[in-house]
Amino acid sequence: MQKQLITILEETKNQLSEADSPEAVEEIRVRVLGKKGRLTEILRSMGGLAAEERKTVGKKANEVRAEIESLLEARRKELNLLKKQAQLAAEVIDVTEPGRVRGLGVKHPVTQTIDEMSKVFMNMGFEVVEGPEVETVFMNFDALNAGPNHPSRDLTDTFYITDKTLLRTQTSPVQVRTLLSKEPPLKVISPGRVFRCDTPDATHSPVFHQVEGLVVGEGITMADLKGTLSEFARQMFGSGTKTKFRPHHFPFTEPSAEVDVSCFKCGGKGCKVCKGSGWIEILGCGMVHPNVLKVGGVDTEKYTGFAFGIGVERIAMLKYEVDDIRLFYENDERFLKQFK
Ligand code: DAH
Repeated sequence: MQKQLITILEETKNQLSEADSPEAVEEIRVRVLGKKGRLTEILRSMGGLAAEERKTVGKKANEVRAEIESLLEARRKELNLLKKQAQLAAEVIDVTEPGRVRGLGVKHPVTQTIDEMSKVFMNMGFEVVEGPEVETVFMNFDALNAGPNHPSRDLTDTFYITDKTLLRTQTSPVQVRTLLSKEPPLKVISPGRVFRCDTPDATHSPVFHQVEGLVVGEGITMADLKGTLSEFARQMFGSGTKTKFRPHHFPFTEPSAEVDVSCFKCGGKGCKVCKGSGWIEILGCGMVHPNVLKVGGVDTEKYTGFAFGIGVERIAMLKYEVDDIRLFYENDERFLKQFK
């Protein structure tokens, strides 16, 4: 029996040296010291021994058990440590490794252009206001003096939602909303998105942007309109820029005009940008029609005003010599990156 005890001790030592995980150590413990373990069995069978022998074997058995217990504990600790070290090595962070460079984005060229236009007008004392993209037919057309038979109301030009609501085709309804919510004197611009049933091509997009302007006060005349828009053109396109006001028609202004600026590229001699004419059309404007002022509850005996509407993409295309409007909406980084 003594021999058996020594064999158990030796074998356990060997097994422990080969154990490669705390779990393997536990398995060995169960095999030796568990309920049905080899050593447990021996201790249990000692009852059949003579008293003298039981004493010596018992002593030896206890020694062996104590040794095995401490061997198990030592190996368990050792393996736990190794496990932890391996884990640390695997999770090591190289703090000297260079970081990932995150590209800094830029504002979209349309947003940049709106910002730039807004700044010019804000410096002249204009306030920026907003209006809804889903508008009533009344605000988008009727209130702007475009009667029931006006061609722009045509189903083919307008995205109708119901027979009373639509996606605004212009930012001009913000004029009416402003007149209804503010008392003159007032000077506002309203940048925003507008929608028209157009098939996309190099110069048309079903969604584009406008900046609307409205000034109402006592004694406002066409001279104020010309001065304001000429100054805007000079600030946007350079101090030498000339402006030309051509008679035009809009239902919500009377008289109405379209404004051309002298070509900032060739100075008026004629080039690709101005298509040889020396002039570039940039906006529509006019003196606010009394019918519009009346809808807005403005006393037309006391007040007059002017309004204008500028296509943002058009300005951006001219400034940056972009020859296809669709480039603005394709989200191609190679295009957008150039507006840093
Ligand atoms: N709303 C017009 C359009 O979309 C642009 C415009 C012209 C706005 C003259 C105005 C204006 O305020 O006075 O074509």
